[in-house]
Amino acid sequence: MGIFSNNTTEKNIDITKIKLPEHLGIIMDGNGRWAKKRGLPRSAGHSAGAKTFRTITRYCSDIGIKHLTLYAFSTENWTRPPEEVSALMKYFKDYLEEALRDFLDDTVKIKFIGDISAFPDELRELMEENERVSKDRSGMVLNLAMNYGGRSEIVYACRKIAKMAANGEISPENIDEKLISDNIYTAGQPDPDFIIRPSGEYRTSNFLLWQSAYAEYYIDDVLWPDYTKEHLNKALLEYSKRNRRFGGV
Ligand code: IPE
Ligand code: IPE
Ligand code: MG
Repeated sequence: MGIFSNNTTEKNIDITKIKLPEHLGIIMDGNGRWAKKRGLPRSAGHSAGAKTFRTITRYCSDIGIKHLTLYAFSTENWTRPPEEVSALMKYFKDYLEEALRDFLDDTVKIKFIGDISAFPDELRELMEENERVSKDRSGMVLNLAMNYGGRSEIVYACRKIAKMAANGEISPENIDEKLISDNIYTAGQPDPDFIIRPSGEYRTSNFLLWQSAYAEYYIDDVLWPDYTKEHLNKALLEYSKRNRRFGGV
């Protein structure tokens, strides 16, 4: 376990009775290393990671998480070998088709955060269709961060706000933290309370930079394809005991 985790046991706790984060973020990391350890191509790690993604998403919805943001593909991940990027696109497509085919009576509302215009048309259309069919659902909001970068999100918000100023809709004095929060991809949603990063890396890798100002962080050494509900329970139990001060006393 990483230094941010402790030895509390997740056994015999009713996870729905503890204080859960309203908004949970997960950096789904470690697929490549998982595959390497088994002598498999990195794409096999992404395939296994996609299974974990399905299990954990379902579990979060079942236990009553209201907003779940999963980091699936960063603005920097395009620099990976083309065969790896193609394999990832295939797994994204499989999931988005499955969601339209099999989850039509689901309560989860799917939303994409990031610049999805960069994806191939077929994939982008599947993303838009998933958002469209799920937009009136009342359950958990699932934000899928795809071609997402915290810095690029801030640039996106700056451009929107600069246009409002140029059109005379606002003056520079009207620019405040709320206006920025209202113009980023997660507008209207609470900031993440808790961010989990499996695979033992101690960095944000450009995830929710603006929104995570006061998020609690939790690093788990387990690789994402091996991540289970029990790992999540343990992290959530620790979250429930954290003392969040927001700069106060
Ligand atoms: C996360 O696993 C998936 C994506 C970033 C798309 P990685 O592919 O980063 O796995 P590691 O970090 O190389 O093990
Ligand atoms: C962050 O993981 C992005 C996703 C999990 C989608 P990376 O594997 O890309 O991050 P670094 O390269 O280790 O910082
Ligand atoms: Mg990684």
